[in-house]
Amino acid sequence: MELTDQSALTSGSDFWQTTAAGGVPAITLTDGPHGVRLQSDASDMLAGRPATCFPPAVASGSTWDPELLRRMGEALGDECRAMDVQVLLGPGVNLKRTPLGGRNFEYFSEDPILSGVLATEWVRGLQSKGVGASLKHFAVNNQETDRMTISADIDERTLRELYLRAFQRVVTAAQPWTVMCAYNKVNGVYASQHHWLLTEVLRDEWGFEGVVVSDWGAVVDRVAALAAGLDLTMPGPDAAGDAELAAAVRDGKLPAEVLDTAVARIRALVEKSVPPGGDYDAEAHHALARDIAARGIVLLKNDDEVLPLRTEGQSIAVLGEFARTPRYQGGGSSQITPTRLDDALTEITATTAAPVRFAPGYNPDHDAADETLIAEAAALAAGSDVAVVFVGTTRETEGADRADLDLPAAHLALIERVVTANPRTVVVLSNGAVVRTAPWDAAVPGLVEAWLLGQAGGSAIADVLFGRVNPSGRLAETIPVKLSDHPSYLDFPGENGHVRHGEGLHVGYRGFDAREQEVSYPFGFGLSYTTFSYGEATAVTTADGVEITVPVTNSGARDGREVVQVYVSKPASRVRRVPRELKGFATVGIAAGATKTVTVRIPRDDLAYWDTRLDSWVVEDGDYTFAVGASSRDLRTTVTLAVAGSPGARWPLTADSTIAEWMADPRGAELLREAFAAGGDSPLVAAAREGEFELLGGMPLARLAVFPGSPFTPDTVTKLAEQANG
Ligand code: BGC
Repeated sequence: MELTDQSALTSGSDFWQTTAAGGVPAITLTDGPHGVRLQSDASDMLAGRPATCFPPAVASGSTWDPELLRRMGEALGDECRAMDVQVLLGPGVNLKRTPLGGRNFEYFSEDPILSGVLATEWVRGLQSKGVGASLKHFAVNNQETDRMTISADIDERTLRELYLRAFQRVVTAAQPWTVMCAYNKVNGVYASQHHWLLTEVLRDEWGFEGVVVSDWGAVVDRVAALAAGLDLTMPGPDAAGDAELAAAVRDGKLPAEVLDTAVARIRALVEKSVPPGGDYDAEAHHALARDIAARGIVLLKNDDEVLPLRTEGQSIAVLGEFARTPRYQGGGSSQITPTRLDDALTEITATTAAPVRFAPGYNPDHDAADETLIAEAAALAAGSDVAVVFVGTTRETEGADRADLDLPAAHLALIERVVTANPRTVVVLSNGAVVRTAPWDAAVPGLVEAWLLGQAGGSAIADVLFGRVNPSGRLAETIPVKLSDHPSYLDFPGENGHVRHGEGLHVGYRGFDAREQEVSYPFGFGLSYTTFSYGEATAVTTADGVEITVPVTNSGARDGREVVQVYVSKPASRVRRVPRELKGFATVGIAAGATKTVTVRIPRDDLAYWDTRLDSWVVEDGDYTFAVGASSRDLRTTVTLAVAGSPGARWPLTADSTIAEWMADPRGAELLREAFAAGGDSPLVAAAREGEFELLGGMPLARLAVFPGSPFTPDTVTKLAEQANG
């Protein structure tokens, strides 16, 4: 292929298409992730053709149900095929590091295992239809503030264990056709030209075989990006960049093989793509969107069984504009033009035979309270058997982080006045990321977290309110008592181009648990209209991991669904550990009165931590505890199991290892004791013989050699190290 054709192939021909060159035809990539946003109007980048608006990841993530995510991926695949789209730009698996993240609604969770497991099934579902996924945004794109320039400064262990882990999971389990690099820098280097990320980790370690595509406009330097492992720059055209690339190859500044490889990957992607075909069943997809939406709703509070609502004999005041004009998705590139749109007011009215009266309560365009609207709503509440108040955030969008966690003043005022007028009040929240619920939730008996639910959200909310669907959603992110409690609080959004991930491993619940902090609603939490009781958990090791088994009984009167969660701790670890980490879960339907034996499999790799001395994943030898329960703070049964460590995971001893490190190593301790025993009788040696290692512990062995009376010389220290490691 001509050099000019080769370089042309590595950039787009327009906003959504690759370039046809050298006999390789063009394909279309489009957003993503909770619907197909195929641009319909050349003058408006954000206007899309109608497509099913499935629940954004904030809601689908709260289902904790991989099976639902797979079905969503399959349905999206069908819509892509029908619309001649070859790659759908999703899923987004960045962690919700801060609750203020403007794109949190597009991401699944603050936990990488939950995100990774769900995204894997989404990708499998989509790709089973012959449509490629684009796993994004790789990596550490956790805020919108300065998103195109900020450097996420982060230590390697945190990076590996938290921020890369979901990506790793999806790449190794589902081999997405493409990975999209992030806009930001990681430790000072643009993700789009980060060789370590794009080549050493993604390809060499994880075995990624597909195309690395840039986020739209993320490439600063075409040559540097290609050299780092990026294949396709979007959008296009970029004639100047193409020419620069060709010149770099001609001048020997960029090895020709690098361009050859990128071209080969793009060609393989195009060849894998299947031609458009079929139509999709819009009604069936709407029904699926409704199922997923209902399953993503999290029941946070249900005092005095204020829910479910009755379908007769109970008059209902439906209050708040969001009941009539739903907030169902966030702003930015993921915004879908829905095929139809359900609203809760219509669905509630259609469900009950009793009177339903509505008042808007606020104007969504104004944050300040409107006394007339509030008084009208409070009067309806007072005159009805139950009041359902729809409130939430008024805007969440790509490109901007939120300023705070609070509901708008008008919504807070409405809640307060309605619950005063009628204590039987249920609050339904519409929001793309958590909002502060303290202290107002104390006065409200019913609280339903309904997120942004996509086009069928209105009917899904009615399904849950009336109990047609027994709620089983669980929080995939912690609801803090206040913003300043959050682990990210002191290091967000950074300054002067850098955001320091100062909380390290303590992201989300890991941080709240480590500081034993009160939260409003913990990670993993969600109520049901029934109750579940747990028997005793047992654990066994298997060929590829650990299996936890626990009997779970539906001890209430309704059929329901429980999300059984397994949190792992490693007591007495040689490295810092967070108190507990989600490592597995299972979502099971259990009929009223029935017991199911639930088995959760934890792959051995998920027990590993990243060891910065050995530069590798290590499963530490010893006892692990597996706490099983209904949330991160509702652990019902715990089992301990010994797990064999990774071979070769011992930290080598060197002349620079401290005496404490020598003493912590069985072989090292034996050698040191022998050396001290034979080392004469200087005060130093006597102290060591007395076991006074506390005082000496922090001293590197080589340093001890220079002290008067030391039994060591630099030579003997080197020999000792050889013996210890041999
Ligand atoms: C977003 C991506 C999106 C792309 C194409 C970017 O601004 O960060 O998530 O896929 O635009 O619309």
